[in-house]
Amino acid sequence: MAIGAPCYIHGYSEDEAVRLADQARTLADLLHHDTRYASGSLVLEAGCGTGAQTREIAGRCPGISLVSVDLSAASLRGAKARGLATDLVRGEIAALPFRDESFDHVFVCFVLEHLADPEGALVALRRLLRTGGTITLIEGDHGSCYYHPATPAAASAWGALVSAQQAIGGDPLIGRRLYPLVTGAGFADVAVSLRQVYADESLPGVQDGFVQRTIVPMVEGVREPNAALGLVDSATFEQGLADLRATGGPGGTFCYTFFRATGVKRG
Ligand SMILES: C[S@@+](CC[C@H](N)C(=O)[O-])C[C@H]1O[C@@H](n2cnc3c(N)ncnc32)[C@H](O)[C@@H]1O
Repeated sequence: MAIGAPCYIHGYSEDEAVRLADQARTLADLLHHDTRYASGSLVLEAGCGTGAQTREIAGRCPGISLVSVDLSAASLRGAKARGLATDLVRGEIAALPFRDESFDHVFVCFVLEHLADPEGALVALRRLLRTGGTITLIEGDHGSCYYHPATPAAASAWGALVSAQQAIGGDPLIGRRLYPLVTGAGFADVAVSLRQVYADESLPGVQDGFVQRTIVPMVEGVREPNAALGLVDSATFEQGLADLRATGGPGGTFCYTFFRATGVKRG
């Protein structure tokens, strides 16, 4: 895929950078409690965006060196402006400018879902790992989402999110495919674990950080693609957004599952 290939549905606005930061903060322990790289390791982060997950990894793994890459120059500038101190490199995941076997570990979070050829990207990343090095991947799966109250309009708006991403070649249901993708790319010892987020009003921090600040803005972000593709009429879409907001308020519940996969490069 060429640099700038139009697979990235969420865009590069300041609102999206804030959403990614809120998401990273809210999910940090759930996603990363078992992510540890030994001091002295050289870690490649592919698809760093504005560095929301980079900060979590760097904070949990003292003494590592991180090289963070993204195809968006604007995101890399945003990462720098937010004080990210890691090496930042612009590049396309499938064609990064590094020698074979350069890295001890590769980390990828919320990126494969946007690629037209995720297995090809994993093969390319495997080339950059030393033998014995590991890859860690974290992805969502929009088919894993359920909530209360479950209204038809909320389902329509959520469906528009899925369809809009599929329409430009992404896979918003990629979580369930991680195991076959990672094994298919040649990694060994592949292990997948599920990370479930659940929010109700006894968990106001999760309702606010995940439902109101992560999920609702993500759906809101496809308002224009939804209209351009003629997926859901705008009144239903707006009602669906309001209904999704209500799932993160009094009496509401929301549940979503992330997938985390690890694999090792053997010979
Ligand atoms: C949802 S953002 C995730 C950013 C970050 N990992 C996080 O979770 O906050 C996806 C990022 O992947 C980048 N990206 C998408 N396709 C890419 C590609 N082919 N090569 C490099 N970066 C890519 C986008 O530019 C975007 O910054």
